Amino acid sequence: MSSLVVVGTQWGDEGKGKVVDSLAQSARMVVRFQGGPNAGHTVWVNGKQSILHQVPSGILTPGVVCVIGCGCVIDPYVLTEELAALRRMKVKVGGRLLIDFRCHMILPYHRGLDAAIEEQAGAKRIGTTKKGIGPAYSDKFGRVGIRAADLLAEETFHDKVKRNAAAANFLLMEKYKADPVSAKKLAADYWRITRPLARFIADGSLAVEQALAKGERVMFEGAQGVHLDVDLGTYPYVTTSSTGSWGVAAGAGVSPLWLDEVAGVCKAYTTRVGDGPFPTELVGADGDRLRQLGGEYGATTGRPRRCGWFDAGVVRASVRYNKLTALVVTKLDVLDTFDQIKVCAGYTLDGRNVDEFDPVHAAELKPRYETVPGWQQPICHARRYAELPRAARQYLALIEELTGCPVAMVSVGRGRDQLILAKPRALGWLSGRTAHHQDTRRQRPAAGQQKD
Ligand code: GDP
Ligand code: IMO
Ligand code: MG
Repeated sequence: MSSLVVVGTQWGDEGKGKVVDSLAQSARMVVRFQGGPNAGHTVWVNGKQSILHQVPSGILTPGVVCVIGCGCVIDPYVLTEELAALRRMKVKVGGRLLIDFRCHMILPYHRGLDAAIEEQAGAKRIGTTKKGIGPAYSDKFGRVGIRAADLLAEETFHDKVKRNAAAANFLLMEKYKADPVSAKKLAADYWRITRPLARFIADGSLAVEQALAKGERVMFEGAQGVHLDVDLGTYPYVTTSSTGSWGVAAGAGVSPLWLDEVAGVCKAYTTRVGDGPFPTELVGADGDRLRQLGGEYGATTGRPRRCGWFDAGVVRASVRYNKLTALVVTKLDVLDTFDQIKVCAGYTLDGRNVDEFDPVHAAELKPRYETVPGWQQPICHARRYAELPRAARQYLALIEELTGCPVAMVSVGRGRDQLILAKPRALGWLSGRTAHHQDTRRQRPAAGQQKD
């Protein structure tokens, strides 16, 4: 298989960064297709931590080309810091990073609006990351956004900033009673900060298409999780992009017919950061214990994550929406010390049994739990499936049974090598076979070349 999509199956922070980094060892290209600095993808390599927000997690593997696809929104301030952190880690980025010129830019007033909207919503807030994601995507869909391409033409750029800052200031001052931004200062600062980024701006869509046409191994890295998707998620408690496999074509700028398989990353339990329904949430000692053992604090905002038992209905819905071919279960080691582990096998809703998570009635779903024995021993040193204790293997088998999807890999620690092949056949990417897509477009003969 030469292309693989990796998505989060829950509410984000499933360990996508770790999994993408591990699988990128055999990739030629890794592409982000949605989201922006709301993402925080943690990768540990040789005992050193990197938190990637906008740069694909393939960047830590030498030789892998990373593309920020046209469906992403970019904050140049955050990106500049991210690139500086990579430089400090001696990661070579030059010639390996492309920003699609169609990407929309986050400006400081987007962050201001995000915070003001949340503040005014009070108890009805979404609990956003306040990174300006919603307002930047609103400008995109309102067809007034500033794109990376605008950073290449100074006059157009200044005109657009002036126009958009005036509109944002009207809202900030009149509607939200918040401080306005100085359009002139903003335009000058922004222009200065974006200069070093201009060299990365290119036709990302074309680069991805060309790699796929050559049969190169291309991975698409999702951000957030399926239940934060703007359409299929727990609306309005969602982010503003398409987080599943359905977002890849639009967000990378390539046809969906290029995509070979889709793997879903899921934690061995469930977390959510921000507001919104969460049927298996544990408030109290068990929730605190999971948070403590799993280090469940936001990689982007530092907020404590809400924690709960594994919700098979949530992952089952992801399997269906994405047509997942394999699951990668992460953080199984976090459950090492529990003597009993609960799994939500389905729900009751108005006295009826429901198997799949229902985002519209999510707040009314009552979990139906199955309790299974824990393994009560450390598993972080296991590297082969057979080395996992029987109870851990039974837990994985239960996840497969309830979600209807094979578990191809299991992660037992944050390190790159702490990954076990469980059912490698479920993930064609692992076998190293390339599909060798044929580029079927008719080529126009070059000038002077004979037509037959
Ligand atoms: P992402 O947003 O999906 O990439 O996930 P985050 O990076 O926000 O959160 C996942 C956290 O779990 C990070 O701190 C990872 O280092 C850590 N992690 C990933 N896989 C494992 C694992 O199998 N075991 C443990 N203990 N930690 C893991
Ligand atoms: P990664 O890629 C977890 C959540 C926010 C909030 C909602 C909307 O690291 O998994 P936004 O700022 O996007 O408008 O916030 O989405 N959220 C995430 N939760 N992981 C993420 O990314 C998230 N990105 C956004 O907490 O509930
Ligand atoms: Mg994260």
